[in-house]
Amino acid sequence: MKIVLANLFALLFLCTCLSVFYVWNTLESRLDRYKRAFQVLADHPRSFRPGPSTDPSPKTFRALLAVPGAQRLHLGGRSGVYNLSVSMGSPDHHMNGDNEGSTQRGEAAKLESPVEEGSFWSERLEEQLAAGFTEEHARAWRDRARAQRVVRLEPGCGRISNQLATFSDGTKACVRYGINADQVQGETLTYCLATLLGITNLPPIVLSQLSGVGEQWAAVRKRVDGLQWSERAVVSLTEWVANLTGVVTPALLRQESTGDGGGGGGLHPLRHELRNKTRVELFELMQWSDLILLDYLTANFDRLVSNLFSLQWDPRVMERDTNNLLRAPRGDLVFIDNEAGLVHGYRVLGMWEKFHDTVLGSVCVFRRRTAQRVAELHARQDARARLLELYQDTEPLSPVLGFLSDEHAGLLQARIDTVHRHILHCKEKYSRL
Ligand SMILES: Nc1ncnc2c1ncn2[C@@H]1O[C@H](COP(=O)(O)OP(=O)(O)OP(=O)(O)O)[C@@H](O)[C@H]1O
Ligand SMILES: [Mg+2]
Repeated sequence: MKIVLANLFALLFLCTCLSVFYVWNTLESRLDRYKRAFQVLADHPRSFRPGPSTDPSPKTFRALLAVPGAQRLHLGGRSGVYNLSVSMGSPDHHMNGDNEGSTQRGEAAKLESPVEEGSFWSERLEEQLAAGFTEEHARAWRDRARAQRVVRLEPGCGRISNQLATFSDGTKACVRYGINADQVQGETLTYCLATLLGITNLPPIVLSQLSGVGEQWAAVRKRVDGLQWSERAVVSLTEWVANLTGVVTPALLRQESTGDGGGGGGLHPLRHELRNKTRVELFELMQWSDLILLDYLTANFDRLVSNLFSLQWDPRVMERDTNNLLRAPRGDLVFIDNEAGLVHGYRVLGMWEKFHDTVLGSVCVFRRRTAQRVAELHARQDARARLLELYQDTEPLSPVLGFLSDEHAGLLQARIDTVHRHILHCKEKYSRL
């Protein structure tokens, strides 16, 4: 009996030991999982969402960041995060991401610095930013616009001297009849300068002479006469983009918050707000940084600078849409109506220069490619030659419309040099911090 009792006792002891071991093990693994989850939450508070999750491990958040561009495209709509190229009013106007994934792409943007090497938008953001109007698209559009007949001219592109033209294939363009050649030159040469700088936000443009050989204007001759447009005039046609909407200047760039690019306002690398921006917002700021350089170089006062001017008596001007700037449905900015640039802008520099300086001074983050192109034009001191070459190569009517005076070409080079110095200054200043 004693032996049976002893055996029973031993069995009971063994079972107790096994139970304690099992409970301890379970507790430990739960504690470990809890700790890991807590760590993720602490690292990326905005990445943690309630609701069902297929993989709650930290890998999820890192993995999204680590997928290289090409692979990311393969995820397509399936993941809901990235998408293949998206058409933006024209088949070749591509964006590398889309707004559907903006929240998640926005989250990811917050995990890393949007600015690198002192003063440049990060390469990761650059890889994902829309391609804008690509060169191939522009070339194809120009060929079509030159070959087609205009079948209708009607209001729809602003003031009466601008008309909405419909081509025989149903596509549209905005025709600009400048009060004088300066405006058409400004529009055309600003487009060429943007191309030299790699800025792809301007719709493609061609020149046309109303009296030109061929039948391009024959079907709308009556309308042209009614508008009292001179037959010899050279007009510009720019691609018309559907469903554009207005753009308010981002708070970071409004005069109330701008400064010298230093510790205070403006778009500079230390603005803590940059860290809280979604990718979509950062994409827009990247395009604004290009816009500000382009408008400074061309002395175009008819956008942000004119707002700054109006701010003197209209404190709410910055809350309204910015002149001559529109947004395509997928988010790309479209820089329209550049006729104040280069020629007229240089002629009236005296009145506007202090505002141009203020706006340029408010930006200290740049797109690498733009900065590189400015640096090349500075190093070679050949802005005039490069601009003229591109203008002549792409526009058969360039000899009729003419080019910049020597004085204005000199001003352009000087402004390129100023922008280059400004970029170097920002880079040096913020690389040290
Ligand atoms: N390329 C384009 N694609 C689509 N719409 C355009 C285009 N260009 C101009 N528009 C339309 O015409 C409007 C006026 O354009 P634009 O600035 O070129 O003309 P404007 O006569 O200077 O007018 P405003 O005085 O309003 O600036 C734009 O707000 C836009 O609605
Ligand atoms: Mg305008």
